[in-house]
Amino acid sequence: YEFLWCEGLPFPDSGFSSEVIKEACTKFVIKDEDTVTVSYPKSGTHWLIEILCLIHSKGDTKWIQSVPIWERSPWIETDRGYKLLKENERPNFLSSHLPFHLFPKSLFTSKAKVLYLMRNPKDVLASGYYFWATSKFSIKPESLEQYFKWFIQGNVPYGSWFEHIRGWMSMRHRENVLLLSYEELQKDPRSTIEKICQFLGKKLNPEELDSVLKNSSFHVMKQNKMSNYEMLPESSMIHSPIARKGICGDWKNHFTVAQDEAFHKVYQEKMAGFPKDLFPWE
Ligand code: A3P
Repeated sequence: YEFLWCEGLPFPDSGFSSEVIKEACTKFVIKDEDTVTVSYPKSGTHWLIEILCLIHSKGDTKWIQSVPIWERSPWIETDRGYKLLKENERPNFLSSHLPFHLFPKSLFTSKAKVLYLMRNPKDVLASGYYFWATSKFSIKPESLEQYFKWFIQGNVPYGSWFEHIRGWMSMRHRENVLLLSYEELQKDPRSTIEKICQFLGKKLNPEELDSVLKNSSFHVMKQNKMSNYEMLPESSMIHSPIARKGICGDWKNHFTVAQDEAFHKVYQEKMAGFPKDLFPWE
């Protein structure tokens, strides 16, 4: 397996061309009524999408149980996103792993709401190792050690985690942008869901909120065929489970002390200049 290169960024090779990605990146029109989930892969993207869908349907599970997650909130930079470019009727929920500099510029003049989801990069690394090692659409690391090196170099799908977060952080003061973290969702899912509701201008009663919480939980999501990609045939591009372990700090079960030190050093260099309290890790 190889990467698909587009605009200098490695993409997973999911069977569509760099022209498709490029056109989606440049021509996609983001509308004021859109809600866009943006994240680096393996940050908990599907979890957040499920939460947004459940908030939208006020805790009713009909939608999440009848429509695949990739149709409820399509990915901009895919062939599906490319088709949506040409459709007038399209969902208002969108998702993307694109780095800031490749994102459709129409975002910046729209009032669309953007939720940027981040996660401790060490957990992103561990999660990504398992995902790509068993995936059918990207280069496969042979060991965590190998993947560790690729991750630090940015030689992984969607490029460098550090560049991704640095780019999107420049949007953090905009009132139509909400920063969220996997860690706060784990620590206090109820308050975080309430915060998301407030940002979206949605009001839920306590029972509706309870349903959002319950039905977006790891165990329920893992069983939802419309969210866990079981709907796709075995032979398809997504093979690795999206819901794997679902905890914070799994990196501790994988990094050696030397790797942790090496990671820390790179992190300090690459993230210099950002206030530490911006991130719920380290
Ligand atoms: P792990 O591999 O650490 O378990 P993404 O959706 O961006 O690909 O992220 C996948 C990660 O989110 C996986 O992390 C997965 O287990 C976790 N995840 C998915 N659904 C979750 C949920 N409902 N609650 C907590 N974590 C979840």
